[in-house]
Amino acid sequence: MDLLIKGKKAIMAGGSAGMGRATAERLAEAGAELVITARREERLRKAAEEIAEKYGTKVTPIVADSSKEEGRQALLEACPDPDILAITIKPPAPNGDFLKVTPEMWRESVETALIGPIEIMRNYIPGMKDRGFGRIVNIATFSAKNPMIWRLMSGPARSALINYTASVSREIAQYGVNINNILPGMFATEGANELMPIYADAFGLEHNDEVIMNHFIENNKIPAGFMADADDMAPMAALLCSPLSRFIVGQNIVIDGGQHHSLF
Ligand SMILES: NC(=O)c1ccc[n+]([C@@H]2O[C@H](COP(=O)([O-])OP(=O)(O)OC[C@H]3O[C@@H](n4cnc5c(N)ncnc54)[C@H](OP(=O)(O)O)[C@@H]3O)[C@@H](O)[C@H]2O)c1
Repeated sequence: MDLLIKGKKAIMAGGSAGMGRATAERLAEAGAELVITARREERLRKAAEEIAEKYGTKVTPIVADSSKEEGRQALLEACPDPDILAITIKPPAPNGDFLKVTPEMWRESVETALIGPIEIMRNYIPGMKDRGFGRIVNIATFSAKNPMIWRLMSGPARSALINYTASVSREIAQYGVNINNILPGMFATEGANELMPIYADAFGLEHNDEVIMNHFIENNKIPAGFMADADDMAPMAALLCSPLSRFIVGQNIVIDGGQHHSLF
């Protein structure tokens, strides 16, 4: 299927690893010209070089923290007029005992998972409206819809994000600018791997891979029977970035192997 995005300018904020990188690859494969961001420079530059070489498209790496105003400005300067904007972050850490969650932890969660994406979108929506086209995709989390006691630093901020995008997407769809969100479940990514020691501490487990994985599987009953790869969601992200998705507005697409039990 031709996604009709050849030559379009795309930003993948958070594009050096995990689901962001997989999405960047699907966009590059479809012919988009890319700007990808991340905080860690070496992995970012390597990802940009690899994607550019593999798909023969231009990929510009910009070191930028989406949760900081200077990071968002650096991105805006590097790419002021994208057609496509996809945004993600590293999964926030599991919180352990909810009574030990501090105001400082809440502030970090809100800065990273709510204000960062909103401010990046706010930088780009006016230009997209003027040009009559835009596709925005937030890669957030299924715990926005499926509250989990150990994901308090991830779910509540994203519940607010999807509330925001539900309203804003309906305001701007008339200009050809669509916002949709993907809500992933459990994916075996670099970010998820980095969290495993914190997961162990949150549940008082010994730092033993087998012990942690057994607890994780017990704690997450996934009907599909496996943890996903980043490529299990990237094709959906690429479709939502395409002109083909012009009638998909303000939706939250859960990709979780059936873990979240709900009708909608
Ligand atoms: N993996 C899972 O099981 C899972 C489950 C539910 C939801 N999710 C959600 O899915 C999204 C992607 O997760 P993932 O597992 O693919 O993560 P990942 O493997 O850590 O990849 C995240 C990417 O975003 C970059 N990034 C992180 N924080 C950033 C920031 N503040 N500014 C700019 N770039 C940033 C990372 O690079 P740097 O770290 O170098 O910045 C990396 O390129 C997250 O929103 C996560 O909460 C993941």
